[in-house]
Amino acid sequence: MVAILENPFRIGLQQERTTEPLILVIFGASGDLTQRKLVPALYKMKQERRLAPQTTIVGVARRDWSHDYFREQMRKGIEEFSDGIGSEEFWKDFAQGLYYCSGNMDEPESYQKLKGFLEELDEKRGTRGNRVFYLAVSPKFFPPGIKQLGAAGMLDDPVKHRLVIEKPFGKDLTSAQKLNQIVQKVCKEEQIYRIDHYLGKETVQNLMVFRFANAIFEPLWNRQFVDHVQITVAETVGVEDRAGYYETSGALRDMVQNHLLQLFCLTAMEPPNALNADSVRNEKVKVLQTTHLADINNLENSAIRGQYKAGWMKGKAVPGYRDEANVNPESTTPSYVAMKLEIDNWRWQGVPFYLRTGKRMPKKVSEIAIQFRQVPLLIFQSAAKQANPNVLALRIQPNEGISLRFEAKMPGGQLRTRTVDMDFNYGSSFGMATTDAYHRLLLDCMLGDQTLFTRGDEVEEAWRVVTPALAVWDAPSDPTTIPMYEAGTWDPPESTAFMNRDGRQWRRL
Ligand code: BG6
Repeated sequence: MVAILENPFRIGLQQERTTEPLILVIFGASGDLTQRKLVPALYKMKQERRLAPQTTIVGVARRDWSHDYFREQMRKGIEEFSDGIGSEEFWKDFAQGLYYCSGNMDEPESYQKLKGFLEELDEKRGTRGNRVFYLAVSPKFFPPGIKQLGAAGMLDDPVKHRLVIEKPFGKDLTSAQKLNQIVQKVCKEEQIYRIDHYLGKETVQNLMVFRFANAIFEPLWNRQFVDHVQITVAETVGVEDRAGYYETSGALRDMVQNHLLQLFCLTAMEPPNALNADSVRNEKVKVLQTTHLADINNLENSAIRGQYKAGWMKGKAVPGYRDEANVNPESTTPSYVAMKLEIDNWRWQGVPFYLRTGKRMPKKVSEIAIQFRQVPLLIFQSAAKQANPNVLALRIQPNEGISLRFEAKMPGGQLRTRTVDMDFNYGSSFGMATTDAYHRLLLDCMLGDQTLFTRGDEVEEAWRVVTPALAVWDAPSDPTTIPMYEAGTWDPPESTAFMNRDGRQWRRL
């Protein structure tokens, strides 16, 4: 028991606590995120008795909805995207704390109206002036929303008022810096919760536990033993109905600058002093500060972009990126990015980190693979003619788990080796499903724990890392020069060649 209490990495401790009475105000209440993720997560938290009974949710959007209509929409969300409402009585209790207030993100009057309404609710529900404002809106509304909340005095109290900002936080370094200035003008960093939902994934947090609660891996976690690291986030989905956003974003902004770089940070950072927001985020910033594209002057030596063309997914023909609805037929927006990063510090000097992500790949799979160095000399006969290097693979999703690849003796008279895997599977070991990322993040925010949220300087550093690639890829280019891959297949050939030039191969997942 004592050992557990002394463990600074007791991730999940917060989840055992209950939130203070508060009002969660969701801007963008008529949107997908609210219905699919946020409200179902809140419902679950209430079922788990993690929410104070007074907890109140106020949806804000432009549409002229009634409280009851909002409640109906949220009920549908819980029924469709979660485990259902369970008992009718329980739903009624939850629904009593759901309200709607129509408003316009850039109109000061809307904030005055909202402010008055929240004060009324404080009286009625006993929420004591505690507020979490969640901006689940298009990023163009971040600056006006934040300024207006500030002007209305709704973020004045550093203890009672919090602000959650969805991704993307800026579209490049300059816009992220500007957005940071806007938000830091109206509130303190301790009030700001920048979301990267990858940090809410259980297996991403497990990466910290794996590294820093086990003594045997950390001594190997450096340039002496590691040959290189591969971080892959492959998706099967295409651009879907999000072309309006995706065309201006592409895989580098949509996935690499945030999700992949977060996975990178947790893999490469030094052990934090403690599991608190500042210690963890200081280490992430430190590692980002020393990270750069392998060859800053020649992008082709550091990064490859690609785009999916028509192909097949699960036996169904799917269109190419340029044929998707609302995509420019000559678009150069990447749906695939691979890049090679280097870190200038004692631990990682000379160890490349390869990151790749793509849409319309054959499988949805995210993993971090640490490939160790070869043995100096092989004295055995190997089935593969040479010993395959050891690989430690941390599977983020699906089939969450960890596997270690090593060589074993094949049965029989001869001393021949073959590669085998030692596997840990999250699901079968713990016998329970992992919690949804939004569940964890919303709860942490309501409990005032910023550890799994990105800090202002961290977001800026992450933008700095990808800036040389943005500078080249944002410039107009000949659409025929973009590497292509068929939907339903892995990396474009140019990316395979990019890896082979280093004498390495992308992992087959
Ligand atoms: C989002 C991106 O942040 O993450 C999407 O905008 C992407 O394009 C999604 O599909 C992937 O998240 P997950 O949790 O499904 O891996």
